[in-house]
Amino acid sequence: MKDKFKLLDEKIAEAQLGGGEKRIEAQHQKGKLTARERIHFLLDEGSFEEIGMLVSHRSTNFGLEKNIILGDGVVTGYGTINGRLTYVFSQDFTVLGGSLAEAHAEKICKIMDMAMKNGAPVIGVNDSGGARIQEGVVSLAGYADIFYKNTLASGVIPQLSAIMGPCAGGAVYSPALTDFIMMVENTSYMFVTGPNVVKTVTHEEVSSEDLGGASAHSTKSGVTHLTYANEIECINGIKAMLSYIPQNCEEDAPCIPYEMSNEKREVLNSIIPENPNQPYDIKEVITGTVDSDSFYEIHKDFAENIVVGFARLAGKSIGIVANQPAFLAGVLDIKSSQKGARFVRFCDAFNIPLLVFEDVPGFLPGTDQEWNAIITNGAKLLYAFSEATVPRITVITRKAYGGAYDVMNSKHIGADMNFAWPSAEIAVMGAKGAAEIIFKKEITEATDSEAKWKEKEAEYAEMFANPYNAAARGYVDEVIKPEQTREKLIKAFKMLENKVAVLPKKKHGNIPL
Ligand code: HXC
Repeated sequence: MKDKFKLLDEKIAEAQLGGGEKRIEAQHQKGKLTARERIHFLLDEGSFEEIGMLVSHRSTNFGLEKNIILGDGVVTGYGTINGRLTYVFSQDFTVLGGSLAEAHAEKICKIMDMAMKNGAPVIGVNDSGGARIQEGVVSLAGYADIFYKNTLASGVIPQLSAIMGPCAGGAVYSPALTDFIMMVENTSYMFVTGPNVVKTVTHEEVSSEDLGGASAHSTKSGVTHLTYANEIECINGIKAMLSYIPQNCEEDAPCIPYEMSNEKREVLNSIIPENPNQPYDIKEVITGTVDSDSFYEIHKDFAENIVVGFARLAGKSIGIVANQPAFLAGVLDIKSSQKGARFVRFCDAFNIPLLVFEDVPGFLPGTDQEWNAIITNGAKLLYAFSEATVPRITVITRKAYGGAYDVMNSKHIGADMNFAWPSAEIAVMGAKGAAEIIFKKEITEATDSEAKWKEKEAEYAEMFANPYNAAARGYVDEVIKPEQTREKLIKAFKMLENKVAVLPKKKHGNIPL
């Protein structure tokens, strides 16, 4: 029996060594942790249970039969994060470049199936040269099996992808199908075709980092939701994010016990400038309203004219969508609509109530926006809000103009409560533009056109640049002082706690993609 124990110990040691000490050292020299180290830092101490450690590939192509490394380049299993069950796969670049083929894919699929059956999140750590070239089509089949499972799991369990090395070719589509992508600056990149192919086809010269590094994807494409300076920060970011979200679509997010006391926040009274055209930072409104230090922003550097993220209000997790007057005056455009819509759908899928802060002058005009389909993309946000059945509350801080008023979680599309600050302006358009259109004749015929325009602008503003017409019709439920916002929201979300809203029976809707 002792010999048998010895054999087992040897096999475990062999698997744990992955591609060997030299390759581990090379990984460290690049500023990267190994697959096992990443799991060690991610999961609660001692909680990791590995599954499939001794799995190996069956390929005999190109001498692969002489290069069998137990585990086949991916470490898979389960453990806990802050005491909550989590499944994880972590690709091991030291083994055949973390390349994915039949056995490697089967291991990932196995834990995804378990996660689905047991209702817990899956975290994928990606560090791979892509499809294992020597194994041919079975590598592609392995990817497709994972893509299919990613899609079926979408909206059932949270799926998070941490990119901690290469993620290229079709391999990018597994993270792309998951809920959130995190990248590490300078050591990770994602692209469908790399710099060499780009150069051959388009004659563009671009580095891996510029083409698909963390910065490119956090600012330009929006592919990544969060970026971090190093892997440990990224791992801590994953843990923080999980604290806001439930284990699966049947559960509620974790909640911190909270006793209501003085919820008045006078700081909110002085944020809106006297001049309605002056910008201010909506994040001051957010942080002044929610539980202290609880705002967890997502997609921070992409489409900054809309702010999205998780927060806690009286200990409960909420999702926030807010126009940002400090960037492009908070206008809605293609990217901000996409960003907002995706976040709204995540929150709705996972029972996270939505809070909207609205200060929006309308949609961004221009050929760029029209020709790139602001119509279809704006409709995404409209659709996402309209079909969301979680508790939904809007606070109009200042402008709520035109179609954007309807889109930004208005009562007409199913918001449960709509509060407005006294500074709210709810109208078809801004007073200047409105006066120019409806008083065109009087303005052009006046001896002093400019003065007439100003007079008519003031007349229109007096009538519509306020929240009271909307309140008179019940489109706004209550006009409140900014300092009351937190208390009103806590009470309203509590009142909505058991909300039941049923959508019409259908196979699925057809969101304008
Ligand atoms: C087999 C691979 C591999 C792969 C890397 N390796 N990628 N083995 N299949 N896809 C091996 C290398 O041969 C090498 O083995 C070891 O991993 C480390 O790789 P290096 O090249 O030495 O590392 P580095 O210099 O850091 O470069 C990393 C890399 C590069 C940029 C990822 O390896 C690379 O370009 N790989 C190929 C990428 C690729 O074209 N993949 C296919 C994409 S198409 P040795 O033994 O020499 O150390 C795809 C389709 C998916 O993925 C379709 C899904 C729909």
